[in-house]
Amino acid sequence: MKAFVVHELTNPSKITLTKDWPVPTLKKGHVMVDVYSAGLNFFDHKGGIKRNLLFHSSWAPSLREKCLMAFLFQQVCDPLTFSLSINRSEHFKGCSLKPGDRVFGAVLGSFADKVAVPVTAVMPLPDSLTFDQGAGLFTTWPTSYEALVSRAKLQPGEWVLVTAAAGGVGIAAVQLAKGLGAKVIAAAGSQEKLDIAKKYGGADYTVDYTKKGWQQEVLKITNGKGADVIFDPVGMIADCLKCIAWKGRALVVGFAAGTVEKVPMNLVLLKNISLVGIFWGGYLVKEPEHMPSVYKAVLDLLTSGRVSLPVIYKEVYTLDNLADGLHALETRKTWGKAIVKVKEEEPRAEKAKL
Ligand SMILES: NC(=O)c1ccc[n+]([C@@H]2O[C@H](COP(=O)([O-])OP(=O)(O)OC[C@H]3O[C@@H](n4cnc5c(N)ncnc54)[C@H](OP(=O)(O)O)[C@@H]3O)[C@@H](O)[C@H]2O)c1
Repeated sequence: MKAFVVHELTNPSKITLTKDWPVPTLKKGHVMVDVYSAGLNFFDHKGGIKRNLLFHSSWAPSLREKCLMAFLFQQVCDPLTFSLSINRSEHFKGCSLKPGDRVFGAVLGSFADKVAVPVTAVMPLPDSLTFDQGAGLFTTWPTSYEALVSRAKLQPGEWVLVTAAAGGVGIAAVQLAKGLGAKVIAAAGSQEKLDIAKKYGGADYTVDYTKKGWQQEVLKITNGKGADVIFDPVGMIADCLKCIAWKGRALVVGFAAGTVEKVPMNLVLLKNISLVGIFWGGYLVKEPEHMPSVYKAVLDLLTSGRVSLPVIYKEVYTLDNLADGLHALETRKTWGKAIVKVKEEEPRAEKAKL
């Protein structure tokens, strides 16, 4: 089968597709899935930011610490060992996956034709979402939902300022905040991205944060009040505190700019604000029982039409030019979620006839 395999640590642009990689073997509690779409994503860990990391397949575990994580959208093709683990997972209790089911989930090594996945790592995807949308929402949407709803306790009518508002988690935050009744100010680094945040995300206002004094614009838009909630995946909380409201909440989501910033604590004190962290991956260890309810809430919002569908970057990459996608991500070209299309889904109606 085809797979994007890193054989040695090198720049992603030097990695070529491996065409004869062995199909993985199934272990107890795993299902074999056909991969249709996989999301390109940055992977932060250990408090450090690895912007120039290498992707590797899960067949090279020694490189595990040095990878970009692939989020995938898959279809179950052989649930050989599925039933063995079904009762161990609250998440899948009462759910019976079968060959041909459309599922989505996350696992390393998904830049490949097939991947063996722990059954607990996949869940059914509603028919109304495409493979690309499934791959696009897997981590970004629950992160943004949990951040806004559980961590910042966003209320309808509040002002939300989202930085990197056209990026993966950013645009999901814009869409969700709008769907939850907030007023959204999208901040980004180019006119193209501001237009995307408005057109696809539904942002009420946009602000170019590369322009000096952009915080004044936020204050003007909010009639001097400032934003009640700040959603920041860039690492620019300190800048944003210049336009946060009294008793505002600032969500620390990520450090896409590459630096773990330090925040002057006097600002936190003077405006009576809360700095609130969000680490969605941490729930896997600390609160796994909470995760299904977040996915359910996200999927309910999407399928009910209360929020617009996940935004997919205009260039869709393939396994052959995946390195170009990584490069685009690193050089800040992408918006929405960048996707690698591994194969096309057969039209649903034709499949039903077979
Ligand atoms: N806390 C969590 O659980 C969680 C979950 C998912 C992701 N994250 C983190 O959130 C951050 C954003 O992830 P994402 O998937 O939204 O990434 P993304 O789609 O690549 O968006 C990142 C955006 O950050 C902005 N940016 C500002 N300075 C940058 C720089 N020096 N290099 C690259 N981008 C820069 C860019 O927008 P402009 O051009 O508009 O400035 C870029 O589009 C990452 O650090 C990621 O690890 C955290």
